[in-house]
Amino acid sequence: MGLFLSRSTLIAKSVFILQLSVFNLAAKPLSQSAVAMPDAFSADAAKSILDQGGNAIDAAITAQFVLAVTLPEAGNIGGGGFMLIQKGGQGDFIDYRETAPKASYRDMYLNDKGDVITNKSIYGISASGVPGSVAGMWLAHKRHGTLPWKTLVQPAVALAEQGFVVPPKLAKGVSHYIAHLKEQKINVNFEKYFIDVKANKVFKQPELATTLKRIRDNGQDGFYKGETANIIAKFMHQHGGIIDQDDLKNYTAKSRVPIKVKWNGYEVLTSPPPSSGGIAILQWLKMYELKKPNNGLAHNSTQYVHLLAEIGKRVFADRAEYLGDPDFFNVPVTALTDINYLKNRSNDISLTAISNTESIKPGLKESEQTTHFSIVDKMGNAVANTTTINLGFGSGVVVEGAGFILNNEMDDFSAKPGVMNVFGAIGGKANEIQPHKRMLSSMTPTILLKNNTVKMVTGSPGGTTIISSVYESILNAVEFDMNAADVVNSARFHHQLWPKNVIRMHAGLSAKVKAELVKMGYVIDERHFGDLNVIINKNGKLDAASEALGRGKSIVF
Ligand code: GLY
Repeated sequence: MGLFLSRSTLIAKSVFILQLSVFNLAAKPLSQSAVAMPDAFSADAAKSILDQGGNAIDAAITAQFVLAVTLPEAGNIGGGGFMLIQKGGQGDFIDYRETAPKASYRDMYLNDKGDVITNKSIYGISASGVPGSVAGMWLAHKRHGTLPWKTLVQPAVALAEQGFVVPPKLAKGVSHYIAHLKEQKINVNFEKYFIDVKANKVFKQPELATTLKRIRDNGQDGFYKGETANIIAKFMHQHGGIIDQDDLKNYTAKSRVPIKVKWNGYEVLTSPPPSSGGIAILQWLKMYELKKPNNGLAHNSTQYVHLLAEIGKRVFADRAEYLGDPDFFNVPVTALTDINYLKNRSNDISLTAISNTESIKPGLKESEQTTHFSIVDKMGNAVANTTTINLGFGSGVVVEGAGFILNNEMDDFSAKPGVMNVFGAIGGKANEIQPHKRMLSSMTPTILLKNNTVKMVTGSPGGTTIISSVYESILNAVEFDMNAADVVNSARFHHQLWPKNVIRMHAGLSAKVKAELVKMGYVIDERHFGDLNVIINKNGKLDAASEALGRGKSIVF
C-alpha cells in the first residue's frame, strides 16, 4: 500500500506579490509564461490555452479536466481541491474541497464496540465525500476566466474520446493498484475500467468522454444536475452509498480570502482553512527563523533536519487540536501564526536533543495521491492548484455509466478522536464528521510575492507530507538560493509528531546525517513522498521544474 500512499496530488499556484494597504499595484507583465505540471498532456494543453491568449486561470481549468483523463490516480472530477490565484494584484482562493454527505454522522466509521472499521473510509462506496472539482472550476471560470468554457473543457473530451498513449509509469501504477486490491481482497470495480491501461498503448474512456461533454455543454449543471447527477445518485443507491441528488445539487464551491503574511522579505500567499497547510507552513517557516543559529544551518545537515523535525512536532500537535472546516469550527488563524505565540512555542526546542513526543501538546491556552500544478502567464498572473481524490485512485470505485473515479476523502476527517487516519494524522472535535462539513486538508498551494511580482509558485501532493514538501521548497529557493530543478529534486524529510520520533525521508540524505539522527533517537523511514511542480521568477526570467521521479513536464515559453 505504501506505493499508493506516497503521492498525493496537489496543485499549487505560487505568486509573489506586494499589496499596498491603500491600493493594489497591477502585476508587472513578464516576457515569458511557464507551466509546471504533473504530466505531459496537462502541460501541453495548458500551454496551448496560454498560446490562444487565455490567462493562467483558463489554463488551470483546462489542466484540471485533462488530468481527470490522463492522471487517474489523482486528477479528477470525482474529488476536490484548492486553487490559489494571484490575478491583477489580488489574491483569491477557490475552495472546492469535498463535503460530507447530508446523511453522514460523527461515528459512521465505528463498529458496535466503538472501534474504527478497517478500510471503510478508505475503499468502496462509503469512502467518498461529495465531489467539488467541477463546481470549483466553474467558479474560477466565472470569477477570473477569459476564454469560453467549452474551449477549456474540450481538450479533456478529446483525450477521453480519442484516447491517449499511456505513459509507462501510469501503466505500472495501475497494475500495482489492481494487484494490491486483489491481495487485500478489496471488492471495487476499478479493474473493470482500467484493465486496458497498458504502457505505450492508446487508452480510451468513452463513458468519461460523455460525462465531460455534458460538463462542456452545460457548465457545472452538467455534473450536479440532470443526467450525470441521476447516474451518480442511482449508482450510490444501488450499492449502499449515501450521496444523493440533494447533496449534489447543494454542493457549493467557495471563494475565500487567502492567508497573506510577511516572511523574510516576501509576502507568503497561501491556503486558509479548511487547509491546514497554510498555517502549518507559516508556523514552520517562522519558528525556523526564530531558532536557527545566526550563521544559519547547512542544507539537510543533522541539525537542520532535527530542528525542522522538532518544529514539526509542535505544528502537528496544533493541527490535531485547532484545525477544521472554518464554517463549522472557529479556527484561531491569527493566534496560531502570531510571532509571540511561536516564540513561546519554540522556546524549549533544543538544537541537539529530541523532545519527548508525549509532552508536546497543543499550544494555545484555551499515496497521499494528490496532484499539483503551477502556472504563470505573461500578464504576471499565477495559479497554484492542488487537486485530489485522496489516496492513489481514490476509493477504487468508478461511477458506472459516468466513467469517473470517486474520492476516498472521508478518511481525512477524524473518525475517532486520537485515532490515526491513513496518513498517521490525528484529530478531534475540530475535524469530526458532520453533514455538509469539509474535511481538513493538507493541500497547500502557495505563492511567494515580492514588490507585487510573482516570485515562486509551489505545491505538491503527499497527504500530510505536502506541508513539508511546500515549506522545504520555499526554504530551498529562498534560504539556499536553488534553481527550480534543485528545489524540486533535493532530498526532503518529514516529521509530524506521530509515529513517535519517525522521520520519513527521501533517499539522498548523507549516510553520516542518517547515522547521527539515529544516534539522537530518531527512526528513519526512507520512502519517497510528494511531486513538486514549481515555478521561480529570478530577475524577470522564469525557471520551472517538475520532480524527476514523477511524470511531470515543465515548459517556459
Ligand atoms: N487528501 C489529502 C489532503 O487533502 O490532505
